[in-house]
Amino acid sequence: MKHLVAPSILSADFGNLQRDIEMINNSEADWFHVDIMDGVFVPNISFGFPVMETLTQHAKKPLDVHLMIVHPEHYIERFAEAGAAIITVHYEACTHLHRIIQSIHNAGCKACVALNPHTSVSLLKDILVDLDMVLIMSVNPGFGGQKFIPNTLNKVRALKGIASSNNPNLLIEVDGGVGIHNIQELVTAGADVFVAGNAIFAASSPSEMISSLKNADTEVLKSI
Ligand code: DX5
Ligand code: ZN
Repeated sequence: MKHLVAPSILSADFGNLQRDIEMINNSEADWFHVDIMDGVFVPNISFGFPVMETLTQHAKKPLDVHLMIVHPEHYIERFAEAGAAIITVHYEACTHLHRIIQSIHNAGCKACVALNPHTSVSLLKDILVDLDMVLIMSVNPGFGGQKFIPNTLNKVRALKGIASSNNPNLLIEVDGGVGIHNIQELVTAGADVFVAGNAIFAASSPSEMISSLKNADTEVLKSI
């Protein structure tokens, strides 16, 4: 499967949100990545349901909703109703992770678990078979524009190894500090989905940057 690109709306221009949504609609991007922050689980507050409504109204691609909140179990149905296709909860925020994964599936969404940089992928062994995707945070969550943590590559390789025996269809998503400088190495390590905020929205042409990220592997092959 060719890797997927999910631009992070957190880095969009909120004064021109509809314009940025249309740019993504008309680009080679696969999903919209939607970062929800509560100021408790992470030291930042992003946006909530009013922005979700604008996204649902205009976005023509699946909404990949990343909940950086405590007690995500209180909001699963609401985000599903608001149009989420994929709901990600943090391992570190869930005491009853298995129950929350069931409730995401019951709400009709794909289920994903995110791991902070310090959380080992081995902790997911007994839940992996129930998941559609694992999101490996490659920065400490809370802010766009941070530097990629290199140990992420080891985590992607290790997770790919565990998943090959008990959930070969599992998608591995990487979020934070992803750009043209490291995407090829991450694809080789086994990652499938790439979130990018700053790399896309700070580029002179965001839609060309999306194409470069989407075709990064083939461009490398062409140059060999
Ligand atoms: C960080 C968020 C990311 C963020 C990525 O807490 O989960 O999705 O928007 O932004 P960049 O690509 O700028 O690191
Ligand atoms: Zn995110």
